Amino acid sequence: MKQETVIVELSDRSYPIRIGSGGRNHPEYFASAVKDRHCLLVTDSNVFPLYAETIVGTVLNAGASAVDSYTFPAGEESKHLGTILEICRKAAQAGLDRKSVILALGGGVVGDMAGFSAAVYMRGIDFLQIPTTLLAMVDSSVGGKTGVDLPEGKNLVGAFHQPKAVLIDTDFLKTLPRRQNLCGLAEIVKTAAILDADFFARMEANVDRINRMDPAFTADMVKRCCELKASVVARDEREGSLRAILNYGHTYGHAIESASGFTMLHGEAVAVGMRMAAELAVHLGVMRRADADRQAALLRELDLAGDISYDPETVFAALFKDKKTLGGTLRFVFTPETGRAEIRKVESADAKAILERGGNA
Ligand SMILES: NC(=O)c1ccc[n+]([C@@H]2O[C@H](COP(=O)([O-])OP(=O)(O)OC[C@H]3O[C@@H](n4cnc5c(N)ncnc54)[C@H](O)[C@@H]3O)[C@@H](O)[C@H]2O)c1
Ligand SMILES: [Zn+2]
Repeated sequence: MKQETVIVELSDRSYPIRIGSGGRNHPEYFASAVKDRHCLLVTDSNVFPLYAETIVGTVLNAGASAVDSYTFPAGEESKHLGTILEICRKAAQAGLDRKSVILALGGGVVGDMAGFSAAVYMRGIDFLQIPTTLLAMVDSSVGGKTGVDLPEGKNLVGAFHQPKAVLIDTDFLKTLPRRQNLCGLAEIVKTAAILDADFFARMEANVDRINRMDPAFTADMVKRCCELKASVVARDEREGSLRAILNYGHTYGHAIESASGFTMLHGEAVAVGMRMAAELAVHLGVMRRADADRQAALLRELDLAGDISYDPETVFAALFKDKKTLGGTLRFVFTPETGRAEIRKVESADAKAILERGGNA
């Protein structure tokens, strides 16, 4: 498959996203960012044995002066400041300087850890995103947000730090467990629902191809999501307003995720969160019942947003612990029609009513 390029337009910090199959074997995609530079590959314990050797080889072929690596245990539990300290110390011990480059090879956790380390090491060095999960390809690797969890909550510490390039090799998805794949799909449905009615319809028409992870259709979806996210980030890099629509499904989603004690994965919770947000929108007269049903149907056909059991009081309390709600006012992203989003303040009684009926109509 040919390689496609999407540019994130941020004047002097613009960068390319290269998308296609087999990109990890192409030194030319890496050369401009790594030539004559000392690189530190940051990855996790699942991805290291699968792909680190190939990437190190390609980066050396691309002219990097040296490549060191740092691997941490896979999982959200590693997303804390202790890991950042370890990465920065590894960088210092290996002799990385201000011209050096960090390579983030992995899912969203690796992207956040490596990106934040690059943002703070020597007050900021370059980094590349090489996402290996579907979620990271369509969401976390693009846009320059990096974040670390505190015991008090997720992503409470972080920085905006844009990568120099994003290299998406869709072949990485061949080893991704199905449950992780579904998490990425939830973010894809989200992106289509808020920004692109045609894309949403294309997904509805291709449910079978999506469910069997047809490589060509998957690559198409990844590209469209990157284009859409790039255009939002270009218009609102630091989430002044527009960028917040990317949080569709995340208000209920984060609360459900945290109330589950993180036994639910982020994407699984976001899928349920979208279904609930649509019900809330209908309840408030912001969205037509038929449109909410249409969203619920696509989620169901993709094996997302099934019924879950939760304690409404616990989820309701968790709504107010989210960093976006720390001021105490609930704000929800709604899709008044497919492909268009808006943000509204919501009374807590309304948000609670949907939780009490299980998020169902
Ligand atoms: N910075 C942002 O803008 C942003 C946006 C969305 C999410 N995030 C963050 O991203 C994280 C979630 O990302 P994620 O879902 O990618 O999780 P993850 O990084 O934990 O990856 C999921 C699992 O898949 C494994 N894995 C990764 N690639 C693989 C592959 N190709 N084959 C087999 N296994 C593979 C990982 O080792 C891990 O066990 C959360 O911490 C979330 O807060 C950040
Ligand atoms: Zn998300």
